[in-house]
Amino acid sequence: MKVLVTGGLGQIGSHVAEMLLERGDEVLVIDNLATGRREHLAEHERLQIVIDTIADKGVVDDLFDSFQPHAVVHTAASYKDPDDWYNDTLTNCVGGSNIIDAAKRTGVKRFVYFQTALCYGLKPSQQPVRLDHPRLPGSSSYAISKTTNEFYLELSGLDYVTFRLANVVGPRNVAGPLPIFYQRLKDGKLCFVTEARRDFVFVKDLARVVLSACDGVGHGAYHFSSGKDVAIQELYDAVVNAMDLPESPVAEVKALGPDDVFSILLDPTRTFEDFGQLEFTPLETTVREAINYYKEYGTLGEYTHLRLEDKKK
Ligand SMILES: NC(=O)c1ccc[n+]([C@@H]2O[C@H](COP(=O)([O-])OP(=O)(O)OC[C@H]3O[C@@H](n4cnc5c(N)ncnc54)[C@H](O)[C@@H]3O)[C@@H](O)[C@H]2O)c1
Repeated sequence: MKVLVTGGLGQIGSHVAEMLLERGDEVLVIDNLATGRREHLAEHERLQIVIDTIADKGVVDDLFDSFQPHAVVHTAASYKDPDDWYNDTLTNCVGGSNIIDAAKRTGVKRFVYFQTALCYGLKPSQQPVRLDHPRLPGSSSYAISKTTNEFYLELSGLDYVTFRLANVVGPRNVAGPLPIFYQRLKDGKLCFVTEARRDFVFVKDLARVVLSACDGVGHGAYHFSSGKDVAIQELYDAVVNAMDLPESPVAEVKALGPDDVFSILLDPTRTFEDFGQLEFTPLETTVREAINYYKEYGTLGEYTHLRLEDKKK
């Protein structure tokens, strides 16, 4: 099978690409290194890597014409700076529609997309959130642009799966609390936690399910979620344990930021029905693998899709 992976040097894309290569598939990656790293994928005879942007329609069309993929795993996304609407729309809307359009034109059989749980808004009316919850992405540029791309996918007539995700973590996770805790603890800085709770899922658990989606399992929207959330404090404690620090630094507890959500629990019922009862790796193992990665490669600084003024506090 030939699979085109956008954002294939990022966290999710690189794990999917590795698993596809392991089982004998041919993989073409396009990545502009906005948050990905070249060292995330080793050279392989069945792997081609193109360093370029999906926002360039000519580049995208040429790649689809020459590679003729059977499936597309579209992970490329812009989310680094909540005030950078230009790049969010350029990558997530223009780039995303370039990919969908080229997939339609060249007869791609399966299209796999990744949506943010922020598409349900900051205060979802259900807990856990069901797949039929209205999409209310207006709270962030990232969610608006990701949801726009999901709507285009629905409009396209392609055979697609969209995985709506809360928090995917593990090696090569460069955004969110895990790399921030690691870097600050390493630098001897104080960390803070809020009372927020999240469902952290291991990136390799997701990647296995993405391969099934490439093979034809599932149609439409799914939550990739264990259905259980943990306190950010528990994540912090797991990082402190995994780093084997001589002392156990205590995190300051702060109130939630204005665009932060208390808990994101996504109802995984449909995923279990169609993809089977999934195995979820324990948080301690997930965090330990992520810390081993940061020890070798470092982090990329502190960023989340939260507003800049909240990050500076
Ligand atoms: N990780 C999560 O918790 C999470 C949660 C919700 C949704 N998602 C979605 O999952 C997908 C993958 O997330 P991830 O955690 O692997 O993020 P990531 O930042 O590790 O990977 C994204 C990749 O896309 C690349 N990219 C960005 N703009 C590009 C462009 N214009 N052209 C080509 N490549 C470009 C980046 O360099 C990076 O390698 C994204 O679509 C994201 O919106 C992730």
